[in-house]
Amino acid sequence: MEQSKLIYTSTACDHCDSAEIDKILETARRVNLEKSITGVLYFSSNYFMQYLEGDTGSVEEIYSRITQDDRHTNIRLVDTASIEERKFADWAMAYIPQSDVLVPIHLKFMDSTEFNPEAITADNATDIVWELYAQLPSAHYEGSSGG
Ligand SMILES: Cc1cc2nc3c(=O)[nH]c(=O)nc-3n(C[C@H](O)[C@H](O)[C@H](O)COP(=O)(O)O)c2cc1C
Repeated sequence: MEQSKLIYTSTACDHCDSAEIDKILETARRVNLEKSITGVLYFSSNYFMQYLEGDTGSVEEIYSRITQDDRHTNIRLVDTASIEERKFADWAMAYIPQSDVLVPIHLKFMDSTEFNPEAITADNATDIVWELYAQLPSAHYEGSSGG
């Protein structure tokens, strides 16, 4: 079956606090495990960036659900492409919270200390997700299905 990756950015809703994000992750990990979707969610400066990978049909289905979620707006599809193998095979949905450790990555890719979704392009998105993830292994929340 063909596998794909998909990356989007969005703006979190006003009431998106850590409790709300925990709920999002709980649902994401449960559903993604059922659908064999893996990936990473990054939350910084009130923006989300999410990387999803799995069977193309499942990725499209989950993304379509996510776009209807009113816990975020300004959803922008940055990149989707077929892939040979997964990058985050062990993670139903890893989570990367904001951290000072990640500022150098913002500077490298976004020319800013703050996360700036407008600087994310199809060319750099996967590298950014990968570098963020690699920088912060200890901060990934353990999900029941993760790790
Ligand atoms: C930023 C963000 C990321 C999300 N990521 C996922 C995800 O990876 N997988 C998933 O199933 N749901 C995810 N959700 C939740 C979905 O939008 C949706 O609530 C969930 O799939 C349940 O769908 P249903 O209400 O149609 O049953 C995410 C929501 C938000 C706001």
